[in-house]
Amino acid sequence: MRKMLLIVSLCLLTLVLKAQVLLSPDKNLTCKFELREGVPYYQLSYKNKTVLKPGKLGLELKNDKRSLLNGFEVTSVKTSTFDEIWKPVWGEVKSIRNHYNELAVTLDQKETNRQVIIRFRLFNDGLGFRYEFPAQKNLNYFIVKEERTQFAMPGDLTVWWIPGDYDTQEYDYTKSKLSEIRGLMTKSITDNLSQTSFSPTGVQTSLMLKSNDGLYINLHEAALINYACMHLNLDDKNMVFESWLTPDAKGDKGYLQAPCTSPWRTVIVSDDARNILSSKLTLNLNEPSKIEDTSWIKPVKYVGVWWEMITGKSSWSYTNEYPSVQLGKTDFSKAKPNGTHAATTANVKRHIDFAAANGFDGVLVEGWNIGWEDWFGNSKDYVFDFVTPYPDFDVKEIRDYAKSKGVKMIMHHETSSSVRNYERHLDTAYKFMKANGYDAVKSGYVGPILPRGENHYSQWIVNHYQYAIEKAADYKIMVNAHEAIRPTGICRTYPNLIGNEAARGTEYQAFGGSKPNHVAVLPFTRLIGGPMDYTPGIFEMDISKLNPNNKSHVNSTLTNQLALYLTMYSPLQMAADLPENYNRFPDAFQFIKDVAVDWDDSKYLEAEPGQNITVARKAKGSGKWFLGSVGGEESRTSNISLSFLDPGKKYIATIYADANNAHYKTNPQAYTIQKVEVNNKSKLSQFVAPGGGYAISFLEAGKK
Ligand code: NOJ
Ligand code: CA
Repeated sequence: MRKMLLIVSLCLLTLVLKAQVLLSPDKNLTCKFELREGVPYYQLSYKNKTVLKPGKLGLELKNDKRSLLNGFEVTSVKTSTFDEIWKPVWGEVKSIRNHYNELAVTLDQKETNRQVIIRFRLFNDGLGFRYEFPAQKNLNYFIVKEERTQFAMPGDLTVWWIPGDYDTQEYDYTKSKLSEIRGLMTKSITDNLSQTSFSPTGVQTSLMLKSNDGLYINLHEAALINYACMHLNLDDKNMVFESWLTPDAKGDKGYLQAPCTSPWRTVIVSDDARNILSSKLTLNLNEPSKIEDTSWIKPVKYVGVWWEMITGKSSWSYTNEYPSVQLGKTDFSKAKPNGTHAATTANVKRHIDFAAANGFDGVLVEGWNIGWEDWFGNSKDYVFDFVTPYPDFDVKEIRDYAKSKGVKMIMHHETSSSVRNYERHLDTAYKFMKANGYDAVKSGYVGPILPRGENHYSQWIVNHYQYAIEKAADYKIMVNAHEAIRPTGICRTYPNLIGNEAARGTEYQAFGGSKPNHVAVLPFTRLIGGPMDYTPGIFEMDISKLNPNNKSHVNSTLTNQLALYLTMYSPLQMAADLPENYNRFPDAFQFIKDVAVDWDDSKYLEAEPGQNITVARKAKGSGKWFLGSVGGEESRTSNISLSFLDPGKKYIATIYADANNAHYKTNPQAYTIQKVEVNNKSKLSQFVAPGGGYAISFLEAGKK
């Protein structure tokens, strides 16, 4: 008996004293967990280089002195291995390996008799970890004052960042050293005409970092469900980031009820930037699809009645009258039309014709429903009802016309951030969509969130976005949410979430322009969590040609725009420019017509944040390959091998590239199109202009 007790106590002692070490399946990554005087710490290394120095773990609770920060003992340690292959409904590849070693440490806070589990999953491409709160007597309902997870960086790294704004991610990225964030914060906020950041060293995830010794590190989160979005606040003396959750209108950060978990905190690591882009860690940390029959979820290539409003050529609103409407009651046929309304039956039919003639699946129409005349500049809780069209938009005629042409209509719900109003109308709105042939909705959350003045990324509103996705799934509706929470891989669990904005998209090219290398940053940051509805395909860079009052310039060459269909992975891709601009460049437009939106395989060939991304993708089912390459601010030569092509086959490669004198600012429409025969032994050396790019379609010789 005594001996037994001795063994048990010795075991417990080792648990208390010993660090727990977890290796990735390929043994390149090592994660170490330990308690230091009752405080949990973890650290991470990659091929013997430090990725994260020892950093603290824990949570501060409201009205709870002890919180979940210290006074812990380790009571159990469980390790396991997981290895499976799963098939996404849509994606960059047809199957994904989910392979990790796991360590689950149960911590007991003796003084309060409360337990927390910290679960670590170590993959070959990085680490995920989360807090788990099992059901227990002394931790039932609790309020998070702050999560105190540290990411202790190994030095003054290079970082691509945007300010830790609670309401928008629509920023250009700043590249700097960690130590320079503080000095550049105000400039970033004023340059982007945005809100104030919560802290002079606060940034958003997904955050891309690079160390002096060539390690690429990405910090983000996975499976953000029923929890506030995490920003990171830097202690720039010690180079330690700490989690900073988005507060609600009262300043609280989370209302939790055990059993529950936090989202996964993710650290993707490699010494090769291409592996950051091809990592599937974020998806792997999400649950498998909760939608059983996914046959109705289909990737979509679409055009829209959209860019003409974004550029200011046309308007969303039908009239400039009726400052205050009574939804469903005001007689709009008596209102004076403003003459610039874009969503007219005739214009929509023209777009349906264009879509049908060029092989597009869908047509998005914005400004079709009443409310726009009343909304702009106002925060109100009743603006849109999502079912009442303007008098010049004939829902049934458009429904029948689209059907006769084999084109799907895409609905638009601008919620004006009146979230409760949207929730009240949601069933009716989704039913209206189905009755009129719409299977996909683009939703939007412009303006301050009503009611209560919530932030865009707090727990309550995260729950709303999720509710809208899940309810849409009940109606077999696909969702593309703009201004909503940035994605965290939830599209694995709800593959009807086919798009999101949550970053600075193409629209900013008509609002003053984006940095020419923006598109070489986004895949390393925003796209880590999931696809973006970036809306590429602009051929006319001089916006004043569309609207003489808009002097904005699209900072991109034309073939850079083509490359985006590959480099900005999304199952939802728009050809955003006006049909008349595509008709001016039919040879280049051919690429947009041909390019696939769903893939069996993807190979990242070149990658460096902010400088270049080259990726080749094999179309689902057809065996055709497509390649896209974007550069940065400077010109470059891209040198690649075509060894990804299927061996033994001959292909006709059509190369759409910047002409030698192309430049995003001064000569963006200078391009060449060349056809050459290639195989998997071929090599390519290709010029890329400043702000440029190139795109290639590979068709097996003799095939269509
Ligand atoms: C902002 C969105 O990003 C844009 O796509 C949309 O057209 C407008 N809001 C209006 O809803
Ligand atoms: Ca937007």
